[in-house]
Amino acid sequence: MQALRGIDLELYAGEMVGLLGENGSGKTTLARLIVGLIRPAKGRITVCGLDTTTASAYELARRVGLVFQNPDHQIFEKTVWNEVAFGPRNYQTPQKEVDRRIEAELRGFDLWVYRSRLPTSLSGGERKSVAFASTFVLEPSVLLLDEPTKGMDYGRKRGLEKKARDLCDAGRAVVFITHDVEFAFESTQRAIVLHQGKILFDGRTQEVLSDPLIEKAGLRLPPIARLAALLQDSLLPQPIGSVEELCNHLEMLL
Ligand SMILES: Nc1ncnc2c1ncn2[C@@H]1O[C@H](COP(=O)(O)OP(=O)(O)O)[C@@H](O)[C@H]1O
Ligand SMILES: [Mg+2]
Repeated sequence: MQALRGIDLELYAGEMVGLLGENGSGKTTLARLIVGLIRPAKGRITVCGLDTTTASAYELARRVGLVFQNPDHQIFEKTVWNEVAFGPRNYQTPQKEVDRRIEAELRGFDLWVYRSRLPTSLSGGERKSVAFASTFVLEPSVLLLDEPTKGMDYGRKRGLEKKARDLCDAGRAVVFITHDVEFAFESTQRAIVLHQGKILFDGRTQEVLSDPLIEKAGLRLPPIARLAALLQDSLLPQPIGSVEELCNHLEMLL
């Protein structure tokens, strides 16, 4: 069985991308191909000029990172600090620099108070944040996050978005693999929709996630997109990108 077919895709430095699609559409398989965990039966994938079929795992892992959907599949150290320190230690980064980066990630993901704790003793959302921190700390050029918002409260979601934005501003690409169309609508600029192993849409998020045809791919239009479409012609002067923007416009009108 083929999980993916005819995929032609380029990811660019500095972009924040949503990769969407129903269960079994091929999102995780695509992510695993991009990071080199599996190899394509046909075709070619290059990351920062490295062919994933021939490059070593060591070379690839410093350029591209994947945070698994289930954090327990990647957490194995005895403390939160050591978990985040594991990757940078492998790359012979100077100790001072490692410590500085770990502290920045732990604070950025609201984990500083847990730094000496056993990761498995944390809550689901906190363990997910540990998995994020341990991947962000490597500052990969391409970072893929599989279902990152599942089980995350509002504060942790916004914290993740901010960290991802910082990474994009520093010229990295971040891909959110998600069913969370509202999060994708508000947080990403480009949306790629997979359906049965093929790319059904690839374009500006606000346009893609406002197109009723995405329902063909098993996705629901985000409520904000439905509301904005209703108000667009008569009340709103321009496309709406977030609940915040819609509220601001409506406040001016009322
Ligand atoms: N290791 C595997 N062996 C065989 N089939 C797989 C494997 N992993 C995924 N698949 C199949 O590939 C398709 C895409 O799966 P996946 O990439 O996990 O989808 P998604 O992440 O979008 O839910 C599904 O039909 C799934 O059953
Ligand atoms: Mg998946």
